[in-house]
Parts: sequence; structure tokens; C-alpha cells
Amino acid sequence: MDKIIINGGVPLRGTVEVGGMKNAALPIIYACVLIEDKCIIENIPNVRDVSLSLDILRDMGASVKTINKSTVEIDCTGVRQGTSKVEQVQKIRASYYLLGSELGRFGKAHVAYPGGCDFGGRPIDQHIKGFETLGGVVNTESGHVDVTTENGPVGANIFFDVVTVGATINVMLAAVLAEGTTVIDNAAREPHIVDLANFLNTCGAKITGAGTDVIKIKGVNKLHGCTYAIIPDMIEAGTFMVAAAATGGCVKITNVIPKHLESVSVKLEEAGATVDEFDDAVVVTGRSIVRKTNLKTHPYPGFPTDMQPQMAVLLCLANGVSYVSEGVYEKRFRYVEELIKMGATIKVDGRTAVIEGGKELSGAPVIAVDLRAGVAMVIAGLVAQGTTEISDIHLIERGYDDVVGKLRSLGAEIKRVSAPDPEESELIKKAN
Ligand code: EPZ
Repeated sequence: MDKIIINGGVPLRGTVEVGGMKNAALPIIYACVLIEDKCIIENIPNVRDVSLSLDILRDMGASVKTINKSTVEIDCTGVRQGTSKVEQVQKIRASYYLLGSELGRFGKAHVAYPGGCDFGGRPIDQHIKGFETLGGVVNTESGHVDVTTENGPVGANIFFDVVTVGATINVMLAAVLAEGTTVIDNAAREPHIVDLANFLNTCGAKITGAGTDVIKIKGVNKLHGCTYAIIPDMIEAGTFMVAAAATGGCVKITNVIPKHLESVSVKLEEAGATVDEFDDAVVVTGRSIVRKTNLKTHPYPGFPTDMQPQMAVLLCLANGVSYVSEGVYEKRFRYVEELIKMGATIKVDGRTAVIEGGKELSGAPVIAVDLRAGVAMVIAGLVAQGTTEISDIHLIERGYDDVVGKLRSLGAEIKRVSAPDPEESELIKKAN
């Protein structure tokens, strides 16, 4: 049961470089199933969701070689359709991209239902709608999703009922080798959708419009390997920006695309911080006074839902009442109970949290309830008076590479400790 322990109250100062974007790396890794050739993926983040996804491809017969800390070579020539392991697939959500890539390459797909953070209902009805519109027959029994077609997907026009990153990606993967042209309307516009399209086009695909709400995919016969570098992680960058503002420090965050962070920068400036933008960096300077402000999460280019818990911590310090509305998921406030243990005054009413600021947070033992909630607790520990102990930190490590080391380099009093698992220590006692 490893933990993160933080002595709060230290303003962060210095420079930190963010890694490649987890949510761009994952679809690109699964997109390699479409390609019977070698792909070299650079700037890949060293996080648990990525290493698990590479293992899932290995289980299916792919060759995956580590070239260096942030570069892998993936060759899916030998991948066997429908052979992903249930117990692995169920650990994360992104494994459902195997549906689109298996369907695209083999004309059929067989994948267990995915896992992922608990934000209330996370249906896949739009994914299914997309596969059916491409001519697929979908069966969702016995905990699996099966898609079959007569002779592979056939291009068609798809209009999504809701803006969905996952379904936009899955339909792109299913359509890229289809017979004919596919048009996705009401598509998600996230930077990682653009990154996936750029990767596939580098491999010979014909995709236009990624980044807008209309994406056109002209089916091609075959894709070839390539070398491709993943875009920087805007959520990791945003997390460090909020940490700088919350601790009243001054931090330069490098390897970023400022355009991707616009909504976060605007919100931080509303809250009283200063954000200076450079070509591939931002400098965030916090102030002693945090101003109250309101936010509502939306699909890109709106304020990202994956930055909602982090901003809520900052607003706990604000001089007044702030309203945080979750516009993407049914519920994403499970972390509030943990912040209340640290002295926060927050009331959750459906999809809105009412945050009464102006109170100091005090260190306490808390848990990471999911990936972004966990890193929000790290920010809370950085600003709290006293010591904060965070457990279940494996959830944080799903999406953050060495967050402890990076924060230490900025002056934080933070460490990662390996506490023996209670059952383990019981066994050790019995054995001695
Ligand atoms: C991706 O999840 C990300 N995960 C999430 O990041 C992120 O929060 C989310 O996009 C939104 O940006 C990965 O990229 C691995 P959606 P995904 O499909 O694809 C509804 C993190 O912390 N919906 O855009 O699951 C759904 O219920 C994670 O890195 C349907 O109704 O997001 C949700 O309310 C957490 N029907 C909304 O759309 C569907 O068929 C957004 O889902 C699909 C989705």
C-alpha cells in the first residue's frame, strides 16, 4: 500500500517538463493493431495505463520493444483478433479502442467490456451506433462486445447524439480501412483526436477535419508503419499550473502547446494568477489572494473535465463562494469527501459543487478515489498546513509519470513511501 506524504505550505518554484499525453498515446497504441508494420512511437508517457496497454497488445501477439524511456517500437503484424485478456482489458477504459481497430483490420471485433474511473454511467451506446452504421452487427452479452460484418466496415455518415471522445476515436479506427467514405458529425474536437488523425495520416490514412466537429475518413486499402511523436500532455501541464497558482509559487512548465491550455489559463487568471505564454512553455505565478470564480466543464475547447478536481482545490482557497459544474459526467465529485476531511466547506448538489473558500486546509490521511481526484489531493496536500498522507496512489500513477519527483524538483516537501500491505504484514508476523 504505497503512499505519498506531503508537508504543505511551500510555494513551488522552478521549471518542470511535462511528458507525452496519456489520452493521445492510448488511442495511437491501439491504432497500431490496424497496421501490419513497425511503428516507432516517441514522447510516449511512462505511466501505468500505457504499460498495461502495451502488455495487452503483447498478449495478442504484437511485438513491442522499448527503444528508450519515452520511445517504443510496436509491430502488430502477428496480432490475433479477439485474443485480448479479459482481466487486463477490464482494468482501463482505453482498451475499448480495440473494438474499432479489430473491426477496422479484421472486419470483426471481440473485446470484454472496459473498466475505467467511476463517474456514474459511462455508456458506449454511441460507439455501438457508430459500428452499426458502418454495417456492423453488435452483440453485448456475457460481458463482451462482439461486432461482426459481412465483408468489413462500409463507409457511412454518422451523427453522434452526444460529443464523445471515445466513440469519435473508435469510429475513426473502424473507418480508416473501410470500403468508401465515412463522415462523423458532432465529433469530439480534443487535441488527442487531432493527434490520432495525424498519426493515421502519417501511416497512409486519408482523414480530414479532425479538430472540428465534422471529420471525414476516406477508406484506404492498407496502412504502413511510421515514426510519430505524441503531443504534450495538456492535463499534466494544467495540473502543474494549478499547483503553482495554489501554492502561491512561480513555475515554468515546458513542452506544452499553450493553445491547448487556453481555457485553463483563462480560468487561472480569473482566480488571480498570472499566466505568461511562450512558444512551448507557460509560466504561472500565484498570488497570496485567490479570487473566487465559477467554472463549468465542457468538451474541448471548453474547460476540461479532467482538470475539474484540481481547480476545485484552488477554489477552496478563494475569497468567497465558487460554483463548479460538471458538464461531461453524471458525477465526478467523489473527491469532495476527501477535501472535507482536510477542512474544506463544499456542498455537492447533483452536477454542481458549491465551494465556500477562505479557509485554510489542514493535512490529513486521505485517499485517491480516481486518477485526477488523486492528483487533486496532492495539490491539497501541497497547500495544507501540516502533513497529508495519500493512499491508493497507484491510481495517480495511471496517468502521471513521477509526479513526486517533479514536485520535489520544484521545492515541495513530498515523498513516496512503500507501506507494507496490512495482509502482507499479518502474513509476515505469522511467519516469524
Ligand atoms: C476520455 O474518456 C478520457 N479517457 C477521459 O479522461 C476524459 O475525461 C473524457 O474522454 C472526456 O474528455 C481516455 O481518453 C482514456 P467520452 P471517454 O466518450 O472516451 C457520454 C482521464 O482522467 N457518452 O467523451 O470515456 C459519457 O457518459 C480520463 O484521463 C455516452 O453517453 O469520454 C460521458 O458522460 C477520465 N455514450 C461523456 O459522453 C457513449 O457511447 C463523455 O464520454 C460514450 C460517451
